[in-house]
Amino acid sequence: MYSIDEIAALDRNSVLHPFTNLKDYASGAAGGPTIMETGKGVRITDATGREYIDGFAGLYCVNVGYGRTEVAEAIARQAYKLAYYHSYAAHTTEELARLSARLVKMAPGDMSKVFYGMSGSDANETQAKLVWYYNNLRGKPKKKKIIARERGYHGCSVVSGSMTGLNFYHDHMDLPISGILRTGVPHYYWGANEGETEEEFSERRAKELDALIVAEGPDTVGAFIAEPVLGTGGIIPPPAGYWQKIQAVLREHDVLLIADEVITGFGRVGADFGSHLYGIEPDLITVAKGLTAAYVPLSACIVGKRVYEVMEEGSAKVGSFSHGYTYSGHPIGAAAANAVLDIVENEQLATKAASRGAYMLSSLKKAFAQLPIVGEVRGVGMLAAVEFVADRDSKTRFDPALKIGARISQAARDRNLIARAMPHGEILGFAPPLVMTEAEIDEMVGIASAAVKQVMDELVAAGHRV
Ligand SMILES: Cc1ncc(COP(=O)(O)O)c(C=O)c1O
Repeated sequence: MYSIDEIAALDRNSVLHPFTNLKDYASGAAGGPTIMETGKGVRITDATGREYIDGFAGLYCVNVGYGRTEVAEAIARQAYKLAYYHSYAAHTTEELARLSARLVKMAPGDMSKVFYGMSGSDANETQAKLVWYYNNLRGKPKKKKIIARERGYHGCSVVSGSMTGLNFYHDHMDLPISGILRTGVPHYYWGANEGETEEEFSERRAKELDALIVAEGPDTVGAFIAEPVLGTGGIIPPPAGYWQKIQAVLREHDVLLIADEVITGFGRVGADFGSHLYGIEPDLITVAKGLTAAYVPLSACIVGKRVYEVMEEGSAKVGSFSHGYTYSGHPIGAAAANAVLDIVENEQLATKAASRGAYMLSSLKKAFAQLPIVGEVRGVGMLAAVEFVADRDSKTRFDPALKIGARISQAARDRNLIARAMPHGEILGFAPPLVMTEAEIDEMVGIASAAVKQVMDELVAAGHRV
């Protein structure tokens, strides 16, 4: 057993942490590391014995909560039986075949087959290749551009990172690559014109998309990728009519729709998929996170009939489908996913997420909506955000140098609540495990209120008007 100090030293000397200021971490200025050790339900405990409420389910992924022994046992059973075999050249396992049939059945739209990866990023990388492959096979070799949205998040790899519409994921990384186009974010609070209704705002966004496709040439645009509820860019549910109007444009120009359901899949938004909730009929669906509740890494591209049939026909001419990873369809991942989906179904977590999510949102509204530094409290299912502004009436943003979102998140953390400062804007995000009870929601909102009050008091003390 290593001591806490020994683990910290090993880590500081040898781990390259994602999304971490490397200089501050190396020098110790930023403190840490936080060594996480155990978890149960919605709570996670670090190596010092300090217990946190995880108001973000890791990274919106531990949907069934921590410490589910059923999932651990399913993983162990498969590991003892057969820890690995590949899925190339038509090899499979019982867990993989069972999971795939299950996903095709539960997914929205007219789905046909499932391809597996290990992360949301690599799955979206695969989606781009599927779009290109599909259009090559259809004899439309120019129809390759992919439209993504400002503030959308689709991952960090080369193509998925380019689809991501947040600049700090591109800076100094030579992204985005060419062939990825950008269209506007459907955030009514910031984006609507004076007097514009949600429907009118959605209409304007759809017209902008139409104009972009027409300007580029519909024969050059292959797909549109979007999250049903925009996630990392700020947890933004779509305005009324948005998805209907967007889909009409895509259909008119024969542009595929990729629904990135990495966050919204498997109950998070109070339905099996975000697509069910908003009447989205995707051609391709990306899932990860909730698929295994992050007990092991697993992602998937669920491929619709329209795309798959062209691929199957095409393989008669071009040969086998030449894409795949060593770990595509890993049996341990499939076993974990089946065990997690059993929990999601047996405990009716999608239905619970709808009712508990409504409770969470109304509690957050009660606690925050009237505060002078709160512009918007929004959410759907077990996904919610509070957006802070310097002045509510004039919708003036805080000076980013004040780092309001990060300070509130830290003040919550000091009180043993993990709530995420979203990376764009002064936004505190909530995405707890779907098993969180109303009493735990009360506890979470109470702590968040104390954190916000602390930062408001600091602003007053520093002479800012609140
Ligand atoms: C909507 C969405 N797509 C893709 C990804 C990328 O997933 P991963 O971090 O597993 O690569 C994420 C991660 O947060 C996401 O939220």
